[in-house]
Amino acid sequence: MSVRKRIGLIGAGNIGGELARLCAEEELGDVVLFDVPSRENLAKGKALDLEQDCALRGRDVSIQGTSNWRDLEGADVVVITAGVPRKPGQSRDDLVATNLPIIRNVAANAKAVCPGAFAIVISNPLDAMVYEYRRVTGAPRNLVAGMAGILDGSRLALFVAREAGVSVKDVRAMVLGGHGDDMVPVLSMTTVHGAPVAAVLSPEKLAAIVVRTRKGGGEILALMGTSAYFAPASSAIAMARAYLRDEKRLLPCAAYLDGQYGYRDIFMGVPVVIGGGGIERVVEIPLTFEEKSMLDKSGESVKSIVEVCRRTL
Ligand code: APR
Repeated sequence: MSVRKRIGLIGAGNIGGELARLCAEEELGDVVLFDVPSRENLAKGKALDLEQDCALRGRDVSIQGTSNWRDLEGADVVVITAGVPRKPGQSRDDLVATNLPIIRNVAANAKAVCPGAFAIVISNPLDAMVYEYRRVTGAPRNLVAGMAGILDGSRLALFVAREAGVSVKDVRAMVLGGHGDDMVPVLSMTTVHGAPVAAVLSPEKLAAIVVRTRKGGGEILALMGTSAYFAPASSAIAMARAYLRDEKRLLPCAAYLDGQYGYRDIFMGVPVVIGGGGIERVVEIPLTFEEKSMLDKSGESVKSIVEVCRRTL
């Protein structure tokens, strides 16, 4: 008899709640929605609301709210949104002082209760937080990934589709590098039903789309006063689904690099294959000279923020 998968969601805020809803909707597995003791009732309330939604929609999953790490024992997947989101005017890097101790605390507890889980980190600044998570847990590199490229790629795909006047279904877009303002929209790998995007849109329109993609999170932040949560949650669910269902999806994710793209001992957004083995491999795609230069610039930014974390050991 196969046993239902268990998905731990660390952080029951905006993204955590939406993650729980999507896990239930797709019946990916039973959900444990975890938050700090002062927010335990929020986690419990969201869990109960969602279980009642499941009763309406005919979804057979259990959703439990908790602040007890023991309830995460043996989880197959953990998705980490613990921390604070940006406020208008803040960069993701501005969050490091608050979110660094939080990710360290989460990693130490996750190591104790669910060391075999596939971990998907969302907390910002993403590339540094996922690095810290792996450093503290000591988890195998294939079991730790950061969510950024799928989200940034969805923003790029949307803007291309709108500008080209085509369905989003026909656009494939790739964004690599760190999850910051110098992320790398890879236009050479972005297509409209296979046609290079440069053949469909003018250089001026593409330049504007690149800028809007890079500031995509900030645009929503300025409108809502807090970070986006629908698309970030869907992006992480794509990763969790690929793992739980052994889909072998090729997705841009923050992965541990050991020589690929010329980088070592760093997490950064690259194309990876996610299947039942977690990050089964990093895929090296050809980049133009300009794209590789942008990736190197982005890599330097990631290294500098990781260095800030190292100094606060
Ligand atoms: N353990 C578990 N949960 C924690 C901890 C901790 N040590 N510290 C904080 N949290 C919880 C908060 O109590 C809150 O409920 O994390 C939750 C974060 O939820 P929101 O404030 O709604 O933030 P959200 O929009 O979900 O973003 C979370 O993801 O995209 C990133 O920049 C974003 O870092 C932020 C994170």
